[in-house]
Parts: sequence; structure tokens; C-alpha cells
Amino acid sequence: MKVISIVGARPQLVKLAPIAAAFAGTEHEHVIVHTGQHYDADLSDVFFDGLGIPDPDVHLGVGSGSHGVQTGTVLAALDPVLERERPDWVLVYGDTNSTIAGALSAVKMHLPVAHLEAGLRSFNRRMPEEHNRVLTDHCADVLLAPTEEAMRHLADEGLKDRAVLAGDVMVDICLRIRDDVRAGKHQAPALPEGIDPAQPFLLATLHRPDNTDDPERLTAIVASLAALPVPVALLAHPRLVARAKEHGIELAQGSVHVGRPLPYAGLIAAVLASTGVVTDSGGLQKEAFLLERVTTTIRPETEWVETVDTGWNVLVPDPHTLSADDWAATVTRPAPTADPGTPYGDGQAARNVVRILADLHQQKGGSRHA
Ligand code: UD1
Repeated sequence: MKVISIVGARPQLVKLAPIAAAFAGTEHEHVIVHTGQHYDADLSDVFFDGLGIPDPDVHLGVGSGSHGVQTGTVLAALDPVLERERPDWVLVYGDTNSTIAGALSAVKMHLPVAHLEAGLRSFNRRMPEEHNRVLTDHCADVLLAPTEEAMRHLADEGLKDRAVLAGDVMVDICLRIRDDVRAGKHQAPALPEGIDPAQPFLLATLHRPDNTDDPERLTAIVASLAALPVPVALLAHPRLVARAKEHGIELAQGSVHVGRPLPYAGLIAAVLASTGVVTDSGGLQKEAFLLERVTTTIRPETEWVETVDTGWNVLVPDPHTLSADDWAATVTRPAPTADPGTPYGDGQAARNVVRILADLHQQKGGSRHA
């Protein structure tokens, strides 16, 4: 069986790591195509190096652009690659512009598409990711769902027959790296200047267009972080840095200490060193949950409802509308005591994915790549 993984943005590289490792121990051929959506070393190269992912077999180098330009450029660049490779499965990840472009290119060539992290919904149609994931789910042939909740969403949309509960591959990688960090196998993370990891601090990230692109809103959110009574280590995504500069907003103010994005192991170590997380990232909400750190999410909703249901995550869409005391009390609240269970699976999701794809391939009678 020959499988092509199409990745391009940081969270996809994290998910690719356990998948690439699971394929490595098999007779199957796994081809990696990097679209180049993320091209900064901080958002791409360090993940390949740090997570032991083999170099991409194909690099499309599409770079930034408006949604239409970015999606369309990936789509056009993929056609000849898929035509040449003729894989048995095209595996697309998550909800980025690279995901929808990969799925569209493949489905139009009658190549079977598998969607990893299928069935997530925010029900917020302002998010580009929501369109990407809904459209990808509806055109893919097999929907690899991470959670029971995702399975329910797929059933609600009439996609039950194509859905399989595979578990969440981010658990596989997060727990592995957590154990490595605890065993001292990684260097201490490069935290922003002024953050003492031996003292309480909050770890923060912010990159959603809804939070970064309106200058008034961004100013208010940064002011809320700046007013907190605990140091805040803000790992600044290029989008945040670019928008802040464009609008003349100083990120490093009050309690906020600004640093660069961290490689994956550095991020895991930073979460473990922190007393809590403030974010709008989907992945980080779940990593904090798995690493048992309370999270405050600056969004009106989340796809990862299990983190909220168990009390580990609290949604605060507009921190600046809370009183300073309430906001501070929320982000520094104590951890819940009840057992959160394992809503994201047992850390074997990548192996499940390989098995599911191989079984389905066999049922179809295999092919020249069998
Ligand atoms: C993308 C994904 C989002 C994911 C996020 C993780 C879409 C629609 N969004 O958002 O789901 O959570 O990645 O990081 O696909 N830029 C750089 N260097 C880079 C990459 C981007 O400077 O390596 C700049 C671009 O110039 C642009 C901005 O960052 O201004 C946004 O990049 P883009 O890939 O469009 O979306 P993200 O916000 O990163």
C-alpha cells in the first residue's frame, strides 16, 4: 500500500510525526508532501528535526497568500505530484488550507482520501478552519475521527458510514515527548527573556485571525494579558508579530514577555514548567489537558469540548470585559480534582490509522502498490 501524507502547517507536522513513525515499521510506502504553507524555520524545520520526521519527499514551496491564493496554489501544484505517484490513499490532516487543497486535488483524480482528525466542529463559520474541515469531511472517503464527539458530528451530517474512531494521534506524540522531557532527554526550552521557569508563570499563544486581525480587539487582549498578576510567556506566532507591528501594538508590556515559537519538545517542557496556559490554539488546549495544566481559551467555542467538560479548560471569549480580579482568578484557578479519563484515546492512534487504511485497502482488493 502506498500512502501520501499532505502537510503544510505546524500542527500538521506534529500529527505527521507519529504517523510517519507508525509507517516506518511496516511494509507500506509512505510519501510525505510538504506544501510549504508554513516556511519559517520556527514553524516547520524544527519539527522535522526535533520529532525525527523523515525529510519531505516533495516540497511544493507555496508560502503565504490570501486564502484563495494559498489554497489554489497548493491545489495546482499537487495535481502533477498525485498524477505521478498514484497512491492508494491520500492522507490529509486537520483543517488548514493545505488540508482542503489536498483533499480536493485527490478526489478530483479519483484517488481515495482519508481525513485525519475528521468530525471536529466549532460551529463558528467565521473560522477558515471550520470551512476547511467540513468540506474535507464531505469529500473524503474515510473519516478518521479522534473522539466520540467527532463521530457524533459526522453521524449528524450523514457521514456515519465513512467514519471510523481512530483516536487522537496528538496523544501518541504528546505523551512520548512528555516522558522524554521528564527523563531529561531534551534541552531546557528557550523561554522569553524575563521568565524564570522556577517561578510561577503562564504560557500564552495567540494566532487566530479573529483575535489578531482587528487592532482594537488585539489591543484589548494584549492589555488583559499585560494586567495579569503573574508573568506571561507569550510565544508569538508570525501572524501575531506581523499584525501587532502593522497596527503599532506593543506586545511586550506589563506582565507580558515575548518570545519565539518553540519546537515541539520545548513547548511540552514549557507547558510542564508553567502553572497554566492562555491560548486560542486548538492543539495547545489539548496538550495542556494531557499535561494537566489548567487552560483559559480566548475563543467563544472550542472543538475540544472534552477539555471544557472536565473543567480543565475555560472559554473566555472577551477577557477585557471581565473585571481584572475575575480575569486573574480565572487564569490562576486551581486544577480540577476529578479524574478526566482518556477522551482522546490511549496513545495508539497512529497505529490504528495505518491498520484501518491497510484493512480498507485490502477489502478493495489491493492494487499495484499492495
Ligand atoms: C494556519 C492554519 C491554522 C493553524 C495555524 C497553526 C489555515 C487557514 N490556518 O494558520 O488552522 O492553527 O496555521 O500555526 O490554514 N507566516 C510566516 N511564516 C510562516 C507561515 C506564515 O510569517 O512560516 C505568516 C504569513 O505571512 C501570514 C500569517 O503568518 O501573514 C498566517 O499564515 P497562514 O499559514 O496563512 O495561517 P496561520 O495563521 O499560520
